[in-house]
Amino acid sequence: MKDLVYEYPTKVYFGKGAAKEHLPAALSAYGPNVLLAYGGGSIKKNGIYEEILDILRAAGKRVTEFTGIMSNPTWAKVREGAALARDCGAGLVLAVGGGSVIDCCKIVCAQAVEEEDLWDLEMVRHEVPAKAPIPLGAVVTASGTGAEMNGGAVITNEDAKIKGGMFSAAPRFAILDPEYTMSLPQMQVLSGAFDTLSHAMETYFGRSDRDNVSDEVALAVMRSTVVNMRTLLEDIGDYTARSNLMWTSAMAENGILKVGRLTDFECHQIEHQLGAYTDCNHGQGLAVIHPAYYRRVWSSAVPKFARFARNVWGISAEGKSEEELAQAGIQALEAFIRACGLPTRLTELRSRVEITPELLRQVADSTNLLPNGPRQLTRDEVYEILMERL
Ligand code: NZQ
Ligand code: ZN
Repeated sequence: MKDLVYEYPTKVYFGKGAAKEHLPAALSAYGPNVLLAYGGGSIKKNGIYEEILDILRAAGKRVTEFTGIMSNPTWAKVREGAALARDCGAGLVLAVGGGSVIDCCKIVCAQAVEEEDLWDLEMVRHEVPAKAPIPLGAVVTASGTGAEMNGGAVITNEDAKIKGGMFSAAPRFAILDPEYTMSLPQMQVLSGAFDTLSHAMETYFGRSDRDNVSDEVALAVMRSTVVNMRTLLEDIGDYTARSNLMWTSAMAENGILKVGRLTDFECHQIEHQLGAYTDCNHGQGLAVIHPAYYRRVWSSAVPKFARFARNVWGISAEGKSEEELAQAGIQALEAFIRACGLPTRLTELRSRVEITPELLRQVADSTNLLPNGPRQLTRDEVYEILMERL
Protein backbone atom coordinates (compact mmCIF):
# COMPACT_ATOMS: atom_id res chain seq x y z
CA MET A 1 0.00 0.00 0.00
CA LYS A 2 1.10 3.55 -0.71
CA ASP A 3 1.01 5.85 2.32
CA LEU A 4 -2.41 7.42 2.66
CA VAL A 5 -4.76 9.77 4.48
CA TYR A 6 -8.43 8.86 4.18
CA GLU A 7 -11.40 10.94 5.25
CA TYR A 8 -14.96 10.78 3.98
CA PRO A 9 -16.79 14.15 3.69
CA THR A 10 -20.18 13.29 2.07
CA LYS A 11 -23.21 12.08 4.00
CA VAL A 12 -25.30 9.84 1.74
CA TYR A 13 -29.05 9.28 1.99
CA PHE A 14 -29.87 6.33 -0.26
CA GLY A 15 -33.25 4.85 -1.18
CA LYS A 16 -36.82 5.35 -2.34
CA GLY A 17 -38.25 8.61 -1.04
CA ALA A 18 -34.85 9.72 0.33
CA ALA A 19 -35.44 13.40 -0.54
CA LYS A 20 -38.78 13.63 1.28
CA GLU A 21 -37.42 11.74 4.25
CA HIS A 22 -33.98 13.30 4.67
CA LEU A 23 -33.64 16.56 2.73
CA PRO A 24 -35.51 18.71 5.31
CA ALA A 25 -33.05 17.72 8.05
CA ALA A 26 -30.05 18.05 5.75
CA LEU A 27 -31.14 21.59 4.77
CA SER A 28 -31.46 22.76 8.35
CA ALA A 29 -27.68 23.08 8.70
CA TYR A 30 -27.50 25.91 6.12
CA GLY A 31 -28.66 29.52 5.81
CA PRO A 32 -31.95 30.76 4.31
CA ASN A 33 -30.74 31.34 0.72
CA VAL A 34 -30.42 28.35 -1.59
CA LEU A 35 -29.23 28.31 -5.20
CA LEU A 36 -31.23 25.50 -6.85
CA ALA A 37 -29.29 24.28 -9.90
CA TYR A 38 -30.41 21.93 -12.65
CA GLY A 39 -29.94 21.00 -16.29
CA GLY A 40 -32.00 21.33 -19.45
CA GLY A 41 -35.38 20.59 -17.92
CA SER A 42 -35.75 16.82 -17.40
CA ILE A 43 -36.57 17.47 -13.73
CA LYS A 44 -39.57 19.54 -14.77
CA LYS A 45 -40.97 16.63 -16.80
CA ASN A 46 -40.51 13.87 -14.22
CA GLY A 47 -41.81 15.70 -11.15
CA ILE A 48 -38.49 15.97 -9.29
CA TYR A 49 -38.46 19.78 -9.59
CA GLU A 50 -41.84 20.17 -7.86
CA GLU A 51 -40.91 17.70 -5.14
CA ILE A 52 -37.61 19.43 -4.31
CA LEU A 53 -39.09 22.93 -4.54
CA ASP A 54 -41.88 21.95 -2.11
CA ILE A 55 -39.29 20.65 0.35
CA LEU A 56 -37.25 23.84 0.05
CA ARG A 57 -40.31 26.06 0.53
CA ALA A 58 -41.54 24.02 3.51
CA ALA A 59 -38.08 24.50 5.04
CA GLY A 60 -38.52 28.26 4.65
CA LYS A 61 -35.73 28.70 2.11
CA ARG A 62 -35.49 31.61 -0.34
CA VAL A 63 -34.76 29.93 -3.66
CA THR A 64 -32.86 31.33 -6.64
CA GLU A 65 -32.69 29.12 -9.72
CA PHE A 66 -29.63 28.39 -11.86
CA THR A 67 -30.88 26.56 -14.94
CA GLY A 68 -29.77 25.14 -18.28
CA ILE A 69 -26.57 23.44 -17.15
CA MET A 70 -25.54 21.48 -20.21
CA SER A 71 -23.89 18.05 -20.51
CA ASN A 72 -20.14 18.69 -20.50
CA PRO A 73 -20.58 21.95 -18.54
CA THR A 74 -18.62 24.93 -19.76
CA TRP A 75 -16.46 27.46 -17.98
CA ALA A 76 -18.88 30.21 -19.09
CA LYS A 77 -21.70 28.36 -17.32
CA VAL A 78 -19.62 28.13 -14.13
CA ARG A 79 -19.11 31.91 -14.22
CA GLU A 80 -22.85 32.47 -14.70
CA GLY A 81 -23.64 30.26 -11.69
CA ALA A 82 -20.95 31.86 -9.52
CA ALA A 83 -22.41 35.33 -10.17
CA LEU A 84 -25.89 34.08 -9.23
CA ALA A 85 -24.62 32.39 -6.06
CA ARG A 86 -22.84 35.60 -5.02
CA ASP A 87 -25.83 37.82 -5.82
CA CYS A 88 -28.32 35.75 -3.84
CA GLY A 89 -25.96 35.21 -0.90
CA ALA A 90 -26.31 31.44 -1.22
CA GLY A 91 -25.63 29.52 1.97
CA LEU A 92 -26.09 26.29 0.04
CA VAL A 93 -25.99 25.30 -3.62
CA LEU A 94 -28.32 22.37 -4.29
CA ALA A 95 -27.37 20.54 -7.51
CA VAL A 96 -30.22 18.40 -8.89
CA GLY A 97 -29.05 16.32 -11.84
CA GLY A 98 -26.32 14.07 -13.17
CA GLY A 99 -22.55 14.51 -13.22
CA SER A 100 -22.72 17.64 -15.35
CA VAL A 101 -24.91 19.61 -12.95
CA ILE A 102 -23.01 18.41 -9.88
CA ASP A 103 -19.59 19.14 -11.43
CA CYS A 104 -20.62 22.61 -12.61
CA CYS A 105 -21.93 23.41 -9.12
CA LYS A 106 -18.75 22.24 -7.37
CA ILE A 107 -16.78 24.92 -9.16
CA VAL A 108 -19.61 27.48 -8.89
CA CYS A 109 -19.30 27.03 -5.10
CA ALA A 110 -15.55 27.68 -5.24
CA GLN A 111 -15.66 30.52 -7.80
CA ALA A 112 -18.44 32.39 -5.97
CA VAL A 113 -16.13 33.15 -3.04
CA GLU A 114 -13.02 34.00 -5.11
CA GLU A 115 -12.23 37.28 -6.87
CA GLU A 116 -9.72 35.61 -9.12
CA ASP A 117 -10.67 33.52 -12.15
CA LEU A 118 -10.29 29.92 -10.96
CA TRP A 119 -9.59 28.56 -14.44
CA ASP A 120 -6.46 30.74 -14.55
CA LEU A 121 -5.55 29.89 -10.98
CA GLU A 122 -6.04 26.11 -11.15
CA MET A 123 -5.62 25.17 -14.79
CA VAL A 124 -3.00 27.69 -15.95
CA ARG A 125 -0.98 28.48 -12.82
CA HIS A 126 -1.66 25.12 -11.10
CA GLU A 127 -2.42 26.74 -7.76
CA VAL A 128 -5.05 25.75 -5.21
CA PRO A 129 -7.85 28.17 -4.21
CA ALA A 130 -7.39 29.39 -0.64
CA LYS A 131 -10.99 30.08 0.41
CA ALA A 132 -13.55 27.52 1.58
CA PRO A 133 -16.30 27.09 -1.06
CA ILE A 134 -20.03 27.54 -0.45
CA PRO A 135 -21.45 24.22 0.81
CA LEU A 136 -22.91 21.97 -1.87
CA GLY A 137 -25.66 19.36 -1.69
CA ALA A 138 -26.40 16.92 -4.52
CA VAL A 139 -29.65 15.24 -5.55
CA VAL A 140 -28.68 12.63 -8.12
CA THR A 141 -31.03 12.08 -11.08
CA ALA A 142 -28.56 10.27 -13.39
CA SER A 143 -25.94 7.97 -11.94
CA GLY A 144 -22.66 6.74 -13.42
CA THR A 145 -20.04 9.41 -12.81
CA GLY A 146 -19.90 9.14 -9.02
CA ALA A 147 -19.60 12.95 -8.95
CA GLU A 148 -21.85 13.07 -5.89
CA MET A 149 -19.15 11.60 -3.65
CA ASN A 150 -15.95 13.33 -4.71
CA GLY A 151 -14.45 16.79 -5.10
CA GLY A 152 -13.42 16.46 -8.75
CA ALA A 153 -15.24 18.39 -11.47
CA VAL A 154 -14.78 18.10 -15.21
CA ILE A 155 -15.25 21.46 -16.94
CA THR A 156 -14.93 22.40 -20.61
CA ASN A 157 -13.22 25.67 -21.52
CA GLU A 158 -14.57 26.23 -25.00
CA ASP A 159 -12.08 28.98 -25.88
CA ALA A 160 -9.06 26.95 -24.80
CA LYS A 161 -10.56 23.69 -26.19
CA ILE A 162 -9.76 21.87 -22.97
CA LYS A 163 -12.03 19.57 -20.99
CA GLY A 164 -10.14 19.32 -17.74
CA GLY A 165 -10.38 18.16 -14.15
CA MET A 166 -10.73 20.86 -11.49
CA PHE A 167 -11.07 20.37 -7.75
CA SER A 168 -13.30 21.73 -5.02
CA ALA A 169 -14.97 20.31 -1.93
CA ALA A 170 -17.12 17.18 -2.32
CA PRO A 171 -20.85 17.65 -1.66
CA ARG A 172 -21.66 17.83 2.07
CA PHE A 173 -24.59 15.49 1.46
CA ALA A 174 -26.02 13.48 -1.42
CA ILE A 175 -29.55 12.18 -1.98
CA LEU A 176 -29.49 8.96 -4.02
CA ASP A 177 -33.00 7.78 -4.87
CA PRO A 178 -32.97 5.15 -7.64
CA GLU A 179 -36.58 6.14 -8.48
CA TYR A 180 -35.26 9.53 -9.57
CA THR A 181 -33.29 7.83 -12.35
CA MET A 182 -36.26 5.91 -13.78
CA SER A 183 -37.10 8.52 -16.42
CA LEU A 184 -33.60 8.39 -17.93
CA PRO A 185 -33.45 7.21 -21.56
CA GLN A 186 -32.04 3.66 -21.87
CA MET A 187 -28.90 4.81 -23.69
CA GLN A 188 -28.04 7.26 -20.89
CA VAL A 189 -28.58 4.55 -18.26
CA LEU A 190 -26.18 2.24 -20.08
CA SER A 191 -23.58 4.87 -20.94
CA GLY A 192 -23.64 6.05 -17.31
CA ALA A 193 -23.14 2.48 -16.11
CA PHE A 194 -20.32 2.02 -18.61
CA ASP A 195 -18.68 5.11 -17.12
CA THR A 196 -18.81 3.34 -13.73
CA LEU A 197 -17.21 0.23 -15.24
CA SER A 198 -14.56 2.46 -16.78
CA HIS A 199 -13.76 4.13 -13.43
CA ALA A 200 -13.19 0.76 -11.79
CA MET A 201 -11.05 -0.44 -14.73
CA GLU A 202 -9.05 2.79 -14.86
CA THR A 203 -8.31 2.44 -11.16
CA TYR A 204 -7.51 -1.28 -11.29
CA PHE A 205 -5.13 -0.95 -14.26
CA GLY A 206 -3.08 1.67 -12.44
CA ARG A 207 -0.06 0.41 -10.59
CA SER A 208 -0.82 -1.31 -7.30
CA ASP A 209 1.04 -3.55 -4.89
CA ARG A 210 0.64 -7.31 -4.97
CA ASP A 211 -2.44 -8.60 -3.06
CA ASN A 212 -3.84 -5.10 -2.70
CA VAL A 213 -7.36 -5.06 -1.23
CA SER A 214 -8.30 -2.09 -3.43
CA ASP A 215 -7.81 -4.30 -6.51
CA GLU A 216 -10.18 -6.89 -5.06
CA VAL A 217 -12.82 -4.26 -4.40
CA ALA A 218 -12.38 -2.82 -7.91
CA LEU A 219 -12.89 -6.26 -9.47
CA ALA A 220 -16.04 -6.75 -7.38
CA VAL A 221 -17.39 -3.35 -8.51
CA MET A 222 -16.69 -4.30 -12.16
CA ARG A 223 -18.45 -7.69 -11.79
CA SER A 224 -21.45 -6.13 -10.11
CA THR A 225 -21.69 -3.38 -12.73
CA VAL A 226 -21.60 -5.91 -15.59
CA VAL A 227 -24.17 -8.23 -13.95
CA ASN A 228 -26.60 -5.37 -13.32
CA MET A 229 -26.14 -3.91 -16.80
CA ARG A 230 -26.99 -7.35 -18.21
CA THR A 231 -30.15 -7.41 -16.08
CA LEU A 232 -31.13 -4.02 -17.50
CA LEU A 233 -30.68 -5.29 -21.05
CA GLU A 234 -33.55 -7.67 -20.22
CA ASP A 235 -35.62 -5.12 -18.30
CA ILE A 236 -34.49 -1.50 -18.22
CA GLY A 237 -36.99 -0.74 -15.46
CA ASP A 238 -35.62 -3.31 -12.97
CA TYR A 239 -35.45 -1.31 -9.72
CA THR A 240 -33.00 -3.61 -7.98
CA ALA A 241 -30.51 -3.41 -10.85
CA ARG A 242 -30.93 0.38 -11.06
CA SER A 243 -30.33 0.75 -7.33
CA ASN A 244 -27.32 -1.59 -7.43
CA LEU A 245 -25.85 0.49 -10.26
CA MET A 246 -26.48 3.72 -8.39
CA TRP A 247 -24.32 2.42 -5.58
CA THR A 248 -21.58 0.88 -7.76
CA SER A 249 -21.40 4.30 -9.44
CA ALA A 250 -20.71 5.98 -6.11
CA MET A 251 -18.32 3.21 -5.02
CA ALA A 252 -16.23 3.52 -8.16
CA GLU A 253 -15.52 7.23 -7.68
CA ASN A 254 -15.77 7.88 -3.94
CA GLY A 255 -12.06 7.26 -3.51
CA ILE A 256 -12.29 3.88 -1.78
CA LEU A 257 -10.90 1.97 -4.80
CA LYS A 258 -7.99 4.38 -5.03
CA VAL A 259 -6.80 3.94 -1.48
CA GLY A 260 -3.12 3.03 -1.33
CA ARG A 261 -2.51 2.79 -5.08
CA LEU A 262 -1.78 4.66 -8.31
CA THR A 263 -4.42 4.90 -11.05
CA ASP A 264 -4.40 4.80 -14.86
CA PHE A 265 -7.15 7.13 -16.25
CA GLU A 266 -5.48 7.57 -19.66
CA CYS A 267 -8.67 6.52 -21.41
CA HIS A 268 -10.51 9.29 -19.54
CA GLN A 269 -7.89 11.80 -20.64
CA ILE A 270 -8.40 10.86 -24.28
CA GLU A 271 -12.20 10.95 -23.95
CA HIS A 272 -12.11 14.33 -22.22
CA GLN A 273 -10.20 15.91 -25.10
CA LEU A 274 -12.46 14.17 -27.60
CA GLY A 275 -15.32 15.76 -25.65
CA ALA A 276 -13.65 19.18 -25.76
CA TYR A 277 -13.66 19.04 -29.57
CA THR A 278 -16.93 17.19 -30.22
CA ASP A 279 -19.15 17.55 -27.10
CA CYS A 280 -19.71 13.78 -27.23
CA ASN A 281 -21.44 11.83 -24.46
CA HIS A 282 -18.83 10.85 -21.83
CA GLY A 283 -19.77 7.19 -21.28
CA GLN A 284 -20.21 6.57 -24.99
CA GLY A 285 -16.84 8.13 -25.80
CA LEU A 286 -15.23 5.81 -23.25
CA ALA A 287 -16.96 2.78 -24.78
CA VAL A 288 -15.42 3.59 -28.16
CA ILE A 289 -11.89 4.15 -26.85
CA HIS A 290 -11.41 1.52 -24.12
CA PRO A 291 -10.90 -1.68 -26.15
CA ALA A 292 -8.49 0.04 -28.57
CA TYR A 293 -6.52 1.52 -25.67
CA TYR A 294 -6.27 -1.83 -23.91
CA ARG A 295 -5.12 -3.59 -27.08
CA ARG A 296 -2.18 -1.11 -27.08
CA VAL A 297 -1.07 -1.61 -23.48
CA TRP A 298 -2.09 -5.10 -22.31
CA SER A 299 1.30 -6.67 -22.94
CA SER A 300 2.83 -4.39 -20.28
CA ALA A 301 0.48 -5.76 -17.60
CA VAL A 302 -0.27 -9.35 -18.61
CA PRO A 303 -1.04 -10.74 -15.12
CA LYS A 304 -3.49 -7.91 -14.41
CA PHE A 305 -5.30 -8.32 -17.71
CA ALA A 306 -5.43 -12.11 -17.19
CA ARG A 307 -6.94 -11.61 -13.74
CA PHE A 308 -9.45 -9.14 -15.23
CA ALA A 309 -10.45 -11.83 -17.77
CA ARG A 310 -10.93 -14.47 -15.08
CA ASN A 311 -12.58 -12.32 -12.41
CA VAL A 312 -14.80 -10.00 -14.38
CA TRP A 313 -15.68 -12.03 -17.47
CA GLY A 314 -15.47 -15.51 -15.97
CA ILE A 315 -13.11 -16.76 -18.70
CA SER A 316 -11.52 -20.11 -17.91
CA ALA A 317 -7.73 -20.22 -17.84
CA GLU A 318 -7.73 -23.84 -18.97
CA GLY A 319 -5.69 -24.43 -22.10
CA LYS A 320 -4.70 -20.76 -22.37
CA SER A 321 -1.44 -18.98 -21.79
CA GLU A 322 -1.55 -15.86 -19.59
CA GLU A 323 -1.21 -13.79 -22.77
CA GLU A 324 -4.17 -15.52 -24.44
CA LEU A 325 -6.24 -15.05 -21.32
CA ALA A 326 -5.34 -11.36 -21.15
CA GLN A 327 -6.44 -10.83 -24.76
CA ALA A 328 -9.65 -12.82 -24.24
CA GLY A 329 -10.63 -10.37 -21.47
CA ILE A 330 -10.32 -7.44 -23.85
CA GLN A 331 -12.38 -9.29 -26.46
CA ALA A 332 -15.05 -9.96 -23.81
CA LEU A 333 -15.11 -6.26 -22.93
CA GLU A 334 -15.63 -5.33 -26.57
CA ALA A 335 -18.35 -7.96 -27.04
CA PHE A 336 -20.12 -6.61 -23.95
CA ILE A 337 -20.01 -3.06 -25.33
CA ARG A 338 -21.64 -4.31 -28.54
CA ALA A 339 -24.25 -6.33 -26.61
CA CYS A 340 -25.21 -3.16 -24.72
CA GLY A 341 -25.69 -1.31 -28.01
CA LEU A 342 -23.03 1.20 -26.99
CA PRO A 343 -21.01 2.74 -29.82
CA THR A 344 -17.77 1.19 -31.01
CA ARG A 345 -16.95 3.81 -33.66
CA LEU A 346 -16.32 7.54 -33.31
CA THR A 347 -18.72 8.18 -36.18
CA GLU A 348 -21.55 6.75 -34.03
CA LEU A 349 -21.03 9.44 -31.38
CA ARG A 350 -23.10 12.58 -31.12
CA SER A 351 -20.74 15.31 -32.28
CA ARG A 352 -21.16 19.01 -33.00
CA VAL A 353 -18.51 18.83 -35.74
CA GLU A 354 -17.43 16.26 -38.30
CA ILE A 355 -14.85 13.90 -36.82
CA THR A 356 -11.91 13.92 -39.24
CA PRO A 357 -8.29 12.71 -39.03
CA GLU A 358 -7.21 16.37 -38.66
CA LEU A 359 -9.52 16.83 -35.69
CA LEU A 360 -8.26 13.60 -34.10
CA ARG A 361 -4.67 14.86 -34.49
CA GLN A 362 -5.67 17.94 -32.46
CA VAL A 363 -7.34 15.74 -29.86
CA ALA A 364 -4.21 13.59 -29.59
CA ASP A 365 -1.92 16.61 -29.40
CA SER A 366 -3.87 18.10 -26.50
CA THR A 367 -4.44 14.91 -24.47
CA ASN A 368 -2.67 14.60 -21.11
CA LEU A 369 -0.30 11.63 -21.09
CA LEU A 370 -0.40 10.00 -17.67
CA PRO A 371 2.44 7.90 -16.24
CA ASN A 372 0.74 5.31 -14.01
CA GLY A 373 -1.16 2.98 -16.34
CA PRO A 374 0.29 -0.26 -17.79
CA ARG A 375 2.66 2.04 -19.74
CA GLN A 376 2.74 5.66 -20.85
CA LEU A 377 1.45 6.32 -24.38
CA THR A 378 3.04 8.65 -26.89
CA ARG A 379 0.94 11.29 -28.70
CA ASP A 380 1.25 9.29 -31.93
CA GLU A 381 -0.19 6.26 -30.16
CA VAL A 382 -3.18 8.30 -28.91
CA TYR A 383 -3.74 9.38 -32.51
CA GLU A 384 -3.46 5.79 -33.75
CA ILE A 385 -5.95 4.59 -31.13
CA LEU A 386 -8.43 7.25 -32.23
CA MET A 387 -7.85 6.52 -35.94
CA GLU A 388 -8.44 2.81 -35.29
CA ARG A 389 -11.94 3.71 -34.04
CA LEU A 390 -12.85 6.22 -36.78
O1 NZQ B 1 -30.14 18.39 -18.61
P1 NZQ B 1 -31.32 17.53 -18.36
O2 NZQ B 1 -32.56 18.00 -19.04
O3 NZQ B 1 -31.54 17.25 -16.90
O4 NZQ B 1 -31.01 16.10 -19.08
C1 NZQ B 1 -29.95 15.27 -18.69
C2 NZQ B 1 -28.84 15.18 -19.74
O5 NZQ B 1 -29.35 15.42 -21.01
C3 NZQ B 1 -30.47 13.86 -18.63
N1 NZQ B 1 -31.06 13.48 -17.34
C4 NZQ B 1 -30.49 13.55 -16.12
N2 NZQ B 1 -31.32 13.02 -15.20
C5 NZQ B 1 -32.42 12.61 -15.88
C6 NZQ B 1 -32.27 12.92 -17.24
N3 NZQ B 1 -33.20 12.63 -18.17
C7 NZQ B 1 -34.35 12.03 -17.75
N4 NZQ B 1 -34.55 11.68 -16.46
C8 NZQ B 1 -33.62 11.95 -15.50
N5 NZQ B 1 -33.84 11.55 -14.23
O6 NZQ B 1 -29.31 13.05 -18.84
C9 NZQ B 1 -28.42 13.72 -19.71
C10 NZQ B 1 -27.00 13.50 -19.25
O7 NZQ B 1 -26.77 14.13 -18.01
P2 NZQ B 1 -25.27 14.42 -17.56
O8 NZQ B 1 -25.31 15.00 -16.18
O9 NZQ B 1 -24.56 15.19 -18.62
O10 NZQ B 1 -24.65 12.95 -17.55
P3 NZQ B 1 -23.59 12.28 -16.62
O11 NZQ B 1 -24.14 12.02 -15.27
O12 NZQ B 1 -23.06 11.13 -17.40
O13 NZQ B 1 -22.42 13.39 -16.45
C11 NZQ B 1 -21.43 13.57 -17.43
C12 NZQ B 1 -20.43 14.61 -16.99
O14 NZQ B 1 -19.73 14.20 -15.80
C13 NZQ B 1 -18.31 14.24 -16.04
C14 NZQ B 1 -18.23 13.93 -17.52
O15 NZQ B 1 -16.98 14.26 -18.08
C15 NZQ B 1 -19.35 14.80 -18.07
O16 NZQ B 1 -18.96 16.14 -18.18
N6 NZQ B 1 -17.61 13.31 -15.13
C16 NZQ B 1 -17.52 13.65 -13.83
C17 NZQ B 1 -16.81 12.88 -12.93
C18 NZQ B 1 -16.65 13.26 -11.50
N7 NZQ B 1 -16.93 14.48 -11.11
O17 NZQ B 1 -16.23 12.45 -10.69
C19 NZQ B 1 -16.12 11.64 -13.31
C20 NZQ B 1 -16.46 11.18 -14.69
O18 NZQ B 1 -15.37 10.44 -15.19
C21 NZQ B 1 -16.84 12.21 -15.68
O19 NZQ B 1 -15.70 12.74 -16.32
ZN1 ZN C 1 -15.92 8.86 -16.27
